[in-house]
Amino acid sequence: MELKVSKVSALKGTIEVPGDKSISHRTLILGAIAEGETRISGFLSSNDCLSTLNCLMSLGVEIERLNSTNLLVKGVGLRGLKEAGKVLDAGNSGTTIRILPGILVGQNFSSVLTGDSSLRRRPMNRIIEPLRLMGADIWATDEKNHAPIAIKGGPLKGILYETSIPSAQVKSCILLAGLLADGKTCLKEKVKSRDHTERLLKFLGASIEVNDNKVCVQGGQKFSGGKIKIPGDFSSASFLMAAALLIKDSEIIIKDVGVNSTRTGFLNVLLEMGADIDVFNERMISGEPWADIWVRTSKLKAGAVAGDVIPKIVDELPILSVVATQAKGTTIVRGARELRVKETDRIKAICSELKKMGANIEEFEDGFAIHGPSSLKSAQCFSFGDHRMAMALTVAGMCAGGVTTIQDSECIDVSFPGFKEVLNSLIKEKVI
Ligand code: S3P
Repeated sequence: MELKVSKVSALKGTIEVPGDKSISHRTLILGAIAEGETRISGFLSSNDCLSTLNCLMSLGVEIERLNSTNLLVKGVGLRGLKEAGKVLDAGNSGTTIRILPGILVGQNFSSVLTGDSSLRRRPMNRIIEPLRLMGADIWATDEKNHAPIAIKGGPLKGILYETSIPSAQVKSCILLAGLLADGKTCLKEKVKSRDHTERLLKFLGASIEVNDNKVCVQGGQKFSGGKIKIPGDFSSASFLMAAALLIKDSEIIIKDVGVNSTRTGFLNVLLEMGADIDVFNERMISGEPWADIWVRTSKLKAGAVAGDVIPKIVDELPILSVVATQAKGTTIVRGARELRVKETDRIKAICSELKKMGANIEEFEDGFAIHGPSSLKSAQCFSFGDHRMAMALTVAGMCAGGVTTIQDSECIDVSFPGFKEVLNSLIKEKVI
């Protein structure tokens, strides 16, 4: 599907964004292995989360979809999953294919997981290696450690594992395998990645020790299901925040957004760049911080992104690059090599597509530099099947003269179904 976008005059209004993707996956997975029922509200019914839901249903978990955002998961306990009898399809979802093996390696049956062509190009060694150290029988079907992944369930032993790349998917996978292992499992990260799994385990009554960047769980412990309310996804909100900052005379409020500090690096970088943003009405719900976010059009100066902030902003770097084209000075992003192994090579995609639109951008192996401001012009852009690229380019198109087209825009449904409708509700012209 091709999306056509043209320049808009202003964004105004109060809106909500769909539920957090990372938390939606985790509520399903933890709800499935909990004792008793878990009631979920604010669930993100996007393609990625539905991949996790379908895999769990294939593994014998009963999940009732009361409506698109309210679900009831009937937990089967740590060892109550059933052999799927078919290949589990994670679609485009890295979170599904990297976290589910954590619970499958400890069952008494075999499983095979695969995904779409993008997912089958992404590295899986990062979970295979630590799971093998725990005694798991898991292997990838090619020498580059890409999916499909095959697993023969069996006994596991606890380990202490230090990750070289901060990754919440790896951390969650190992912690869940730790619940099924003998003894204690600890995971240490150089920089803390998003901590939704730890918070949710705690919220459901599991015992988990967290000391700075080290997390430990004791194997064999049971925990109960509960009632979980999921906040709006900060990553989805980031596209609206950027549009409101860049488009003249805008003023919007995004309500009920998750503002977990392991996710909000984009907010901190924007504030350093001079953005007029207020975070208010902060409160805790189901173990996660929520807030409302007020954004007004702002004159921005260049920013710098490197080091420990990277895991907290990793999904927002495509939209930050669009913001940087409108900021005065040179914005530099370094230490973000992980972008090369996301849904597409995001460094390459950002550079090629923004260059077409007139941005002054330099590509590095681990990031990019953008010299701003430049006036953007319309172009024929590709999303490369990557939802965050498609949405970032939509915002770029809203700032550019002429009509920008974005090919393969249906991938937006991976994380933000209703993106176009939410944007249209904030603008007069209905130009996308
Ligand atoms: C996610 C973790 C991040 C992030 C991805 C979602 C998660 O990936 O980029 O969109 O839900 O755990 P990594 O764990 O590979 O950093």
